[in-house]
Amino acid sequence: MNILVVGGGGREHAICAALARSPRVNKLYCAPGNGGIASVAECRPEIVATDIPGVVHFALDNAVDYVMVAPDDPLAAGMVDVLEDAGIRAFGPHGNAAIIEASKVFSKNFMRKYGIPTAKFETFSVPEDALAYIEAQGAPIVVKADGLALGKGVVVAQTVAEAKAAITEIMVNEKFGHSGDEIVIEECLSGPEVTVLAFTDGTTIVPMLSSRDHKRVNDNDEGPNTGGMGAICPSPNYTPELAAQCMETIFRPTIDAMRAEGREFRGVIYFGLMLTKNGPYVIEYNARFGDPETQPILEMLDTDLLDIFEAVTDGRLAEIDVKWKSGAAACVVMASGGYPGDYAKGLEIHGLDAVPDGVTVYHAGTKLKDGAYHTSGGRVLGVTARGGNLAEAIANAYDGVKHISFDNAHYRTDIGKG
Ligand code: AMP
Ligand code: GLY
Repeated sequence: MNILVVGGGGREHAICAALARSPRVNKLYCAPGNGGIASVAECRPEIVATDIPGVVHFALDNAVDYVMVAPDDPLAAGMVDVLEDAGIRAFGPHGNAAIIEASKVFSKNFMRKYGIPTAKFETFSVPEDALAYIEAQGAPIVVKADGLALGKGVVVAQTVAEAKAAITEIMVNEKFGHSGDEIVIEECLSGPEVTVLAFTDGTTIVPMLSSRDHKRVNDNDEGPNTGGMGAICPSPNYTPELAAQCMETIFRPTIDAMRAEGREFRGVIYFGLMLTKNGPYVIEYNARFGDPETQPILEMLDTDLLDIFEAVTDGRLAEIDVKWKSGAAACVVMASGGYPGDYAKGLEIHGLDAVPDGVTVYHAGTKLKDGAYHTSGGRVLGVTARGGNLAEAIANAYDGVKHISFDNAHYRTDIGKG
């Protein structure tokens, strides 16, 4: 089969590497791809991930049999619907199901309607009403822009003043454009966070191994939120009992309710969970693989990823036995100094060939120039390794990091701890 993966970060590198291992893959393309992805797929840097007509034309012109859409924005914009209308099979939810990520107002009302555990909340479209609500509720409190905001539309406010400032930024100053036309204000929960990704064909749901990402830029969860500075798989907090409880109270009800709403979800659904003292709660849904969680998770997968993808698309996931390797995996992100603020690009990366066997370096923001890799984004590399247990996996990933360098490289030293 000829396959096109849409996207160009570390997650897409891990997906392309897993697909490249499938004996049924003939030609593998990635649009736009990146420097590292070019080692496993033919990249098309001229096609950005949100370019729906560009992706459709490329697929038709290059006899692509199957398109895997990885990022949130083309999914929300209905890229899978348009591909299918053009007669091209595609992996990922339709636009009307991707809304579970693209609108927090939708997802919160959906959870309320179906009794899925989530923080208590109200929604607002008028700033004055939101400000009055904050006054009445007090802090800590959480303010969330309705729409997609590159993972930056959530403010966990410790004071009323901070919450009010967030409302002004999001609703009045339109920091995230129309994504902030409506907001959700919700109660602040506490407890360990766990990510569970699951394959689903709309009826059958198969959770992957659990994971945990680290969103803050610095050690000890300090500094601003990022796209994710590292991840581990599985999460030590996620016991078999919790897994059974989540299946009963969250996973299955979500999939069944989406079908009942006429929004059957086929693809990968991401459950961002908080393990509170009252049980697991949904913090957020995403309609896709997480980044960087995908890097350690796919490192643990022991089944042909293309077989799973096609079973999802064709509605026969129940026939597939999804298997996992034993042990654990960890991914440490090496970022450009300054990220998530301003940072330099174009710096040469050294030592990629020197990493020990068993360490996989997924590229998130790199370009290949004159035979050498250079930085081209905030998150640059995801250094990933397995181990017999979590401590070993983490040690192996950091052993890889030690060999790699570029000017002003920044990484957390506490991935998997705490
Ligand atoms: P989200 O983009 O919705 O996952 O939110 C980003 C981060 O904000 C989460 O990973 C949590 O750490 C935090 N967060 C979101 N909602 C809440 C909440 N209701 N209570 C406490 N922390 C939250
Ligand atoms: N790592 C968080 C996300 O992919 O949304």
